[in-house]
Amino acid sequence: MGKKVTMEELVAFCKRRGFIFASSEIYGGFAAVYDYGPYGVELAKNIREIWWKEMVQLHPNIVGLDSSIFMSPKVWEASGHVGGFSDPLAECKQCHTRARVDHLLEDIGVFADEKMSDEEIGTLLTRHAAKVVCPKCGQKDFSAPKSFNLLVKSNLGNFTGSMDDPAYLRGETCQGIYVNYKNVVDTARVKVPFGIAQIGKAFRNEITARQFIFRKREFEQMEMQYFVNPDQAAESYEQWRQKRWSYYVDTLGLKEENLKWHEHENLVFYASAAWDIEYNFPFGFKELEGIHNRGDYDLSTHAKHSGTKLIYRDPKTNQEYTPHVVETSVGVDRTFLAVLTDAYTIEEFEKTDNEGKKSLDSRTVLKIPKKLAPVKIAVFPLMRNKQELVSKAKEVFESLAHNYICEFDDNGNVGKRYRRQDEIGTPCCVTIDFDTLNDNTVTIRDRDTMEQERIRIEDLGEYFSKYF
Ligand code: GAP
Repeated sequence: MGKKVTMEELVAFCKRRGFIFASSEIYGGFAAVYDYGPYGVELAKNIREIWWKEMVQLHPNIVGLDSSIFMSPKVWEASGHVGGFSDPLAECKQCHTRARVDHLLEDIGVFADEKMSDEEIGTLLTRHAAKVVCPKCGQKDFSAPKSFNLLVKSNLGNFTGSMDDPAYLRGETCQGIYVNYKNVVDTARVKVPFGIAQIGKAFRNEITARQFIFRKREFEQMEMQYFVNPDQAAESYEQWRQKRWSYYVDTLGLKEENLKWHEHENLVFYASAAWDIEYNFPFGFKELEGIHNRGDYDLSTHAKHSGTKLIYRDPKTNQEYTPHVVETSVGVDRTFLAVLTDAYTIEEFEKTDNEGKKSLDSRTVLKIPKKLAPVKIAVFPLMRNKQELVSKAKEVFESLAHNYICEFDDNGNVGKRYRRQDEIGTPCCVTIDFDTLNDNTVTIRDRDTMEQERIRIEDLGEYFSKYF
C-alpha cells in the first residue's frame, strides 16, 4: 500500500483541480458548506448514477422517489426529531466558540461511550475540564453542556413572524419515503418485500464544522428503505449488509482493507440492529454508510400521528401487518471523500528520453474506477499551431462527446497534458499527430499503465464501447 493521503493534500487538490470549493469563498467562506466544481460535479453525478443503478435498476422490486425538502412540521414531530435529534454543545467562555462536547473530548483522547446520553457526556466534560482546550482561542474554560437540536428551521409560509411552528429543512431523506409509503403501495403495484430509494439533500445544524465534506450542514443522502414482513426482517437485514459490502468492494472498487464493520452498541430505541460500514478516511476509520433494522417504528409512528392506516395486506394470505424497515443510508459526499482518498496516488515511474536515457519521474494520478472518472476521454492535437491537427482533433472530440464526457486540450506540451489528465483521473487520452493525417490513426494512452496503442479513427467508437 502506498503512502496515505493527508486531509490537507486532499483539500488542496480538490480546490486546485476544481473538484470542491468552499461555499461563498470570495466572502471568506461559510462554515461546513461546500460547492462542487466542474470535475466534482461530474464525479458526484457518477456516484449518484452508480448507486441508483445498483439499488433501483438492478432490483425490480425497488422503486424510486423524489420527495420534497420541505414537509409538514408534523412529520418531524412524529419522527422524534423535534424532541430528540440533538448533540451535546458547550461554549468557550472566553471567545464564545461553540463546539460538540464529544469532539472536544476526542481531541484529548477521551472517547464518549456510545451508550451515553448528552447529559452523561456533559459530566465527562466536567471531569476532564482542566484538559479540554478551545480549538479557537486555546483557553480551557467551557460552559456547562446543553443539548442542541440539529434540525434547520426555515420561515417558509410563516407570514406572522412567529417561529412557534417552523417548517424544517429535512434532516434525513427517509422521512419522505415513510410518508409516501401508502402512495407507492397504492400506485406502483409493489408487493412486500419491496424498497423505495431516494437521493436528495438533507440539512443538519452540525455544531462542529470540520473534516471537510465528511460533516456538512447541507449534504446529500442516498437512502433505501426496504419494507419486509416482520418475520423476514432479520434475514433481509443480513442480506442487505452483505450486498452493501460487495457494492463498495466490487462496484465502487474501494480497497477492502480500507473498509470495516462497526456495530452500534447503543441502539436508538426503535432499532433492533445497526451496523456501519466505516471507511479509512485520512483522519481514520469513520462511518461511511449506516445499515439499520428499524422495525415497524417509522410506519407505526406516522400512522399514529397522521391517523392514516399504514399497513400491508398480503394478497395471498390476507394477513395484515405493519412492515418492518431495513434501511441503507449513505452520503454522496462521504462516498466522494472515500473514492478520492482511495484513488489519490503519487507514484514514481521510469521514463526514457529521446536519446534512450532512463530516469525516475513522479506523477499524481487519480486511480479512480473508469465509470467514476469525471472526464472519460481527453483529446489532444499534438501541436496547437498546426491547423490540420487542430481541426482533426476537434472532429474526433465532437464525435466522441456524443457518448462520453470529453475534454479538448491543446495547452502546453503533450507531457503536461497527460499530467493534468492523470491528476483528474481521465482513463484515456487520444492524440492526433502527423501520422493521423496520413493513415487516419490516433494514439490512445492508458492512464494506469501509461502504455500507448494506435487505433483507426473509425474504430474508436467500438474500442471505447468495449472499454467503458
Ligand atoms: N436515515 C438514517 C440517517 O440519516 P445517519 O447515520 O444520520 O442516518 C446516514 O446518516 C448517512 O448520511 C451517514 O452514514 C453519512 O454517509 C451521511 N451523513 C450524515 N450526516 C452527514 C453530514 N453532516 N455530512 C455529510 N454526510 C452525512
